[in-house]
Amino acid sequence: MNPKVRKSERLIGVLLGLIIPGILMSVQGQSVVMLPVITRDNALVLEVSKNKDVEMIYYGPKLPSSGEYGNISEAYSQATDYTGLYNSAYTPSGTRNLLEPAITVTHADGNNSLALKYVGSKTTRLSDDVSLLSIRLHDPVYDFEVMLHYKSYYQENVIEQWSVIEHHEKGNVVLHKFASANVYLSNQGGYWLRQYYGDWAKEMQPEVSKLTHGIKTLDSKLGTRADLFQPPSFMISLGERPSTEDQGEVMLGSIEWSGNFRFDLEVDPRDNLRIIAGMNNYASAYSLKPGEVFCTPPFISVFSDKGKGEASRNLQAWARKFKLVDGEGSRLTLLNNWESTYFDFNEAKLDTLLRDARKLGVDLFLLDDGWFGNKYPRNDDHAGLGDWQANRKKLPDGIASLVKEAGEGSVKFGIWMEPEMVNPRSVLYHQHPGWVIKQPQRPEYYFRNQLVLDLSNPKVQDFVYGVVDTVLTKNPGIVYLKWDCNSVIYNAYSPYLKNQSHLYIDYVRGLYKVLERLRTRYPDLPMMLCSGGGGRVDYGALRYFTEFWPSDDTDPLERIYIQWEYSYFYPAVASCNHVTSWGKEPLKYRTDVAMMGKLGLDINVSKLSDSDLKFCQNAVKTYASIKGIIWHGDQYRLSDPFTHDVASIMYVNGAKTAAVVFNYLVNNRYDRGGKFPVVFRGLDPLKHYRIYEINLYPGQDSSLYSGKIFSGAFLMQIGYNPKVNAGRSSVVLKVEEVS
Ligand code: DGJ
Repeated sequence: MNPKVRKSERLIGVLLGLIIPGILMSVQGQSVVMLPVITRDNALVLEVSKNKDVEMIYYGPKLPSSGEYGNISEAYSQATDYTGLYNSAYTPSGTRNLLEPAITVTHADGNNSLALKYVGSKTTRLSDDVSLLSIRLHDPVYDFEVMLHYKSYYQENVIEQWSVIEHHEKGNVVLHKFASANVYLSNQGGYWLRQYYGDWAKEMQPEVSKLTHGIKTLDSKLGTRADLFQPPSFMISLGERPSTEDQGEVMLGSIEWSGNFRFDLEVDPRDNLRIIAGMNNYASAYSLKPGEVFCTPPFISVFSDKGKGEASRNLQAWARKFKLVDGEGSRLTLLNNWESTYFDFNEAKLDTLLRDARKLGVDLFLLDDGWFGNKYPRNDDHAGLGDWQANRKKLPDGIASLVKEAGEGSVKFGIWMEPEMVNPRSVLYHQHPGWVIKQPQRPEYYFRNQLVLDLSNPKVQDFVYGVVDTVLTKNPGIVYLKWDCNSVIYNAYSPYLKNQSHLYIDYVRGLYKVLERLRTRYPDLPMMLCSGGGGRVDYGALRYFTEFWPSDDTDPLERIYIQWEYSYFYPAVASCNHVTSWGKEPLKYRTDVAMMGKLGLDINVSKLSDSDLKFCQNAVKTYASIKGIIWHGDQYRLSDPFTHDVASIMYVNGAKTAAVVFNYLVNNRYDRGGKFPVVFRGLDPLKHYRIYEINLYPGQDSSLYSGKIFSGAFLMQIGYNPKVNAGRSSVVLKVEEVS
C-alpha cells in the first residue's frame, strides 16, 4: 500500500499547502474561488458561489488537471435547487434552506435565522503529509461565525472535518444543531449504506440497504457506552451496487466522539446524497456565551474508487500513524483472569495465575474486576464500584505485593478499573450523592447495578483522575490499564450543571479532560478501551488508548464476523482478541482467531491438558514471530464469511516479503470447504514465495508443506488452497519471499 507518490503529485500537494486564500479560477468569464482539498488519490472540492455561499461540488478520484474542477458546477446546473443551498458546505437554517441543516441557532435577540457567507480561507501545511484548510464563514447580520476545517492526510487519503462556532452577540446564543461536517456526494446509480447494529456480545452486525429519498438517521442517545446499539461508523458505496473489497466507489465515515452521535443521510430532490455528521443534538441545546468557542469533534472520511478493502487499509494506516497511542509501536501479550475466576479469587489463586502467565510465556498478567472495595466488597457486580482500595480479605498484602511478585517472575502486571462508575452500595455513593447522574425526583434506574459519575463536574473529574493516578503511582510496577465502562446514562441529570441540556456533551468533554491529564502524566502506558465489550469504540477515545476490546463475545466463530467488520475501521494492532472457553471450536481455532490482532488468553491454564498447554506455549512463540506483520502490515480480506464457507484474511508486510494468511471453516454444509484456492492479494507479482503452515497442534502434520515455490503473480491470479475442511477447520499460512 501507499506506493511512492509521483514527484509531480507531491509537488502539487506541497504547493497547495501554500495557497492562500484559495484558487481563483475563471468560470464562464467570472472569477470563482475554488478550495480543493487534495489527497494522493482523491479530491474534495469546495467552491465559493457568487452569493458567497461555500458549496461542496465534488468528492471522488482527483482529476489530472485541477483547472477542471471549475467546470463541475456547470455540469450539474440543469437540476433545480430551490434554495441554492442543497450542496452547502455547512447548511444554515432559518433563511433559504429547506433541507436538513448542519447548524440551527437562536440568536441572543431571539431570532432563529442564520446565513453563513464566505469571508476567507487559508491552507496551512502542517507536515509533509498533512494540510489544514480553514474557511471562515460569517453571518451578514449577526456577529456570529463558523470556521470550517478540513485536515487532509495526503498519503492515507483521509480527511477530517470539523467546525468551530463562536459569536460576539449581546447575550448567549443557543445552538440547537451543530454538525461537524456536511458532505455532498453525487452519483446517478445511487447510494448503498452499510450500517451496523448490535447489543452486548453482538457488536458490529452489518446491514446493507439502498438509500431512498428522504433522511435516514443513525444515532445514539445512550450517553456513555454510546455505541452499544450502533457504532459511530458507516460506509457509503456509490453506484449501481455495493462496493466489493476490490471494486467500486466507497466512502467510509466515522466520528471522533465518545458520546451521542448523529449521522443524517439525506438523498435530496436532485438525487444527491447529503451527509450531516456530528454530535447528537438530542436533548443537547447548547447555550454559548459571547466569545466562547464551541468546537465540534472531527468527522473522518476516506474515499476509494477501488473498493472497501483499499479504503479500509488507508484508514488503518492513518489510525496507526496519526491517531492511536503508539499505533506504530508494540503491544503486550497477556493472560487475563476474568473468564477463569470472575470475582472469585484470592492471593493464592492469583499467585497460580501469575505462574501460569510465566508458563505460557506471555508478557503480562491482567488482573480484572473484583480486587477492590472493603466496606462493600466487590464480590459481584452489585457493590464496590467507586471504592478503589484493594480488598483486604482477597489481597491482604495489597496490590503492591502482587505486582512485586509478578516482577520477580518477570511477568508484567496490569489492572482493570472502571473509574467513571459507582455502585449505590459503595462508600463513594454515600459520601458524594451529588456526584452521581440521576434525576432528583425519580426512582434510580441501574444498568449492571450501577450509576454514572457526573464528569461534567470538575470535582468529579479530579476524583476520577485521582483514583487512577493513585493506583498507578502507588504501584509503579503496574504497566497496563484496562479502562471499562459498563453503564449507559439513564435519568440524565447533573446536580452540578445549571444548564441540563449541556450534560451529554460536557460529560464527554469532562472524560477527555481526565484522559488528557492521565496521558500527560503517563504518556507511554498501554491502555485498553473497554465498555462491557465494544460499547465505546471510536477515534475520539482512541486518541488516548493503545487498543480496544471489541466484544465480550469471544466465541471464535462469532469473532470472525465481529473482527471482520471492525477491521474496516480499525487496525489489527488495536484489536484485543482473547482465547477463552467460549464456543465449540477447538483450542487451535480459538487461538488462530485471537492472533488476528493483539493476542491475549483468558483461560484456566491449570486445567489444560499437556498437549493443549504445549500448543498454547508454542502459539505464543509463533505469534511473536508474526505479530509485526499483523500489527503493521496491510490487511486484505480474501474470502468473505458472509458469503463463503471459508473465511480468509491476509496480512502483508510493507516490503511485500512476508505475509500471514488465516483461513477458517465457517460453514460446513455439503462439505464445501477446501473446494477453491484462495486468491491472495498485496504481494509483489514478480517476487517468489514459499508457503508453509504454522501454529499446528502438537502431533498435527501439515499436508500442505511441499517446499514448492510460487510467483506472486500465480498466488494473486490462481491462488493457493489451504485445504480447509472439517478436520482442518482453521489453517494459518506463512508466506515468505525466497531470494
Ligand atoms: C466487562 C468487560 O467487557 C469484561 O471484559 C470484564 O472486564 C468485565 N466487564 C468485568 O466486570
